[in-house]
Amino acid sequence: YRTLRVALLGAGAVGSQVADLLLKHGDELADRAGAKLELAGIAVRNVDSKRDADLPRELFTTDAETLIVGSDIVIELMGGIEPARTQVLHAIASGADVVTANKALLATHGSEVFEAADQVGAEVYYEAAAAGAIPIIRPLRDSLAGDRVVRIMGIVNGTTNYILDRMDTEGADFADVLAQAQELGYAEADPTADVEGYDAAQKAAILASLAFHTTVPLDAVHREGITSVDATMIESARHAGYVIKLLAVCERLTAEDASESISVRVYPALVDRSHPLASVHGANNAVFVQAEAAGDLMFYGAGAGGVQTASAGARRRRVRRAAPHRRGSRRGRVDACEPPRRAHRTR
Ligand code: HSE
Repeated sequence: YRTLRVALLGAGAVGSQVADLLLKHGDELADRAGAKLELAGIAVRNVDSKRDADLPRELFTTDAETLIVGSDIVIELMGGIEPARTQVLHAIASGADVVTANKALLATHGSEVFEAADQVGAEVYYEAAAAGAIPIIRPLRDSLAGDRVVRIMGIVNGTTNYILDRMDTEGADFADVLAQAQELGYAEADPTADVEGYDAAQKAAILASLAFHTTVPLDAVHREGITSVDATMIESARHAGYVIKLLAVCERLTAEDASESISVRVYPALVDRSHPLASVHGANNAVFVQAEAAGDLMFYGAGAGGVQTASAGARRRRVRRAAPHRRGSRRGRVDACEPPRRAHRTR
């Protein structure tokens, strides 16, 4: 095998697991990738910070710039906009391919990153940026490229699904379950990003941009979190045959004059208990895609957690075709209290 030098930027929960995977399963990865992936170094802010995995100290450096130059693949797992943006652009300019799980970066500077990559013929892989371990980027970008996606409904945040699920199945208290989600490593460093829907909104912008071949800016995404959902609402929903899920709903709208727009909304939705999305429990994610030719597809898998995100794209996941809805029936309905659509004109 030829050897590809891999630079890792960031060694948080996900970064540490990726480093561990590369070091422990290098041979197996080489068989699959057709190249030996050599972890050249890990750029961090502080070499002495405590890590989730036991990693050789000599791999760590605070000099990301030097590490990037001379690397074939740069894996950016720092999160946040800067310095991630500068370093990703630096990696592309130095001729490396980039792997990133950075939702915030792609949701706000995706066009800049992709254009820079196009100019030099570099690849940007971001399978972990939208729905944890579910490989959804390629299906949307490649497999469904000849089809026309009309709607995506996704459970794209594991933390809020875990919280709502435990409130629904056990009558658990919001604050208690949130604390557990943090302990289990599902929640973002600042859990406001999860419970107020910011994380889901970033993922929704990424999914909608891909599915509808356009750029949906983050500020075009309607966002509501789950902090106003209480036990009474969950109970009333149950009595009416629904479960409350935080959904990212991305839709193609066609006006009477045939002009097109896109609507992207994140909000706590009432999902009929017979809909496939209603049976997504715990911190799992699912993306329900409706396309003109393919019909209804559902992608399901682990949503949150370091190892799951690290594995994004590398593990086998279930892809199942959902049962077709009976038109006009209440079966499988989403949803009875949706916020108004705000059209984002496509270019
Ligand atoms: N905090 C995120 C979640 C992690 O709960 O889904 C994965 O992006």
